[in-house]
Amino acid sequence: MHELLRDLRSILEHEQSLYGALVPEGKTSSSPDTSTTAASPSEDASSAPAPTDDASGESSTAPSDTPEATASSSSPSSSHDDAPDAMPNKDLFGNRTRPPEEDPTLPPWERIDALVPDDADYKDAEALDEVEQHLADTVLVPIDEDRENPVFGVGDPHADLVIIGEAPGRDEDKEGEPFVGRAGQLLDKILDAINFKREDVYITNILKSRPPRNRDPHADEIDAHLPILYKQLALIRPEIILAVGKVAGNTLLDRSSSLSNLRDKEHDFYGTPLMVTYHPAALLRNSNWKRPTWEDVKLLRTRYDELTADPES
Ligand code: URA
Ligand code: URA
Repeated sequence: MHELLRDLRSILEHEQSLYGALVPEGKTSSSPDTSTTAASPSEDASSAPAPTDDASGESSTAPSDTPEATASSSSPSSSHDDAPDAMPNKDLFGNRTRPPEEDPTLPPWERIDALVPDDADYKDAEALDEVEQHLADTVLVPIDEDRENPVFGVGDPHADLVIIGEAPGRDEDKEGEPFVGRAGQLLDKILDAINFKREDVYITNILKSRPPRNRDPHADEIDAHLPILYKQLALIRPEIILAVGKVAGNTLLDRSSSLSNLRDKEHDFYGTPLMVTYHPAALLRNSNWKRPTWEDVKLLRTRYDELTADPES
């Protein structure tokens, strides 16, 4: 009995110490969701160059034409059609009856690879480096010309978890690495709270170039850059994906939903589980979103552990 109590207490303490990472410095972890003014003036995102402030604000309108414009022919929703048993996706002549990205019998990375246009220079790339080089060498849309550095992605090229944000901000543009500014530092803390190091995962964005003044991505920019992300995912083959913020979530899921409708559930991205939570830049502005973010990332960690568990053990 004593042992049980001790276990419970240590679990509680562990939880509290993790949760503390999501609470602004100087606040106690025992009252995490009572303060709406937790952000100190210097943390106020409105005065900071947080890249996705506008894009990630609950009050701002999502670029509603964006998701539709990007993936209209490739909705990721899983379809459990009434295909005949014998040759599930073939017609009488053995031809495929649905596009490969919609074929649930194919492995996820093949379905995602099928989203990369055949005429993309990097269609047949076998390593991330090749795709990164292509990005560095090519101007696809005007923001590619204006950037200081392309921001391709960082982390383990075989990561089981890929985290996808919206677009580089000023710090990222300067360093050529995603999530290195203030939002990135909070992302690192969130990862730490669920026992991931930055090097354990792969981090990237929908857009690889910084939009001027961190405005929302335009549809043509997403159209131009999204296939690069598809290729990255096809090469990395993650077990699970976390989209941070409304723009990333809606773009990948081909929706235009509020963040609160996207979070707290597992979606299907061409056979790979995908979860959505608040953007760290949004958490810097509104600490009320830290609690739901914490719930989301705990769920993410649980699913990650299930998906990567050694079936032998
Ligand atoms: N916000 C993003 O969405 N991506 C980054 O890389 C940095 C901030
Ligand atoms: N609204 C958004 O669009 N994104 C967030 O991360 C939070 C609120």
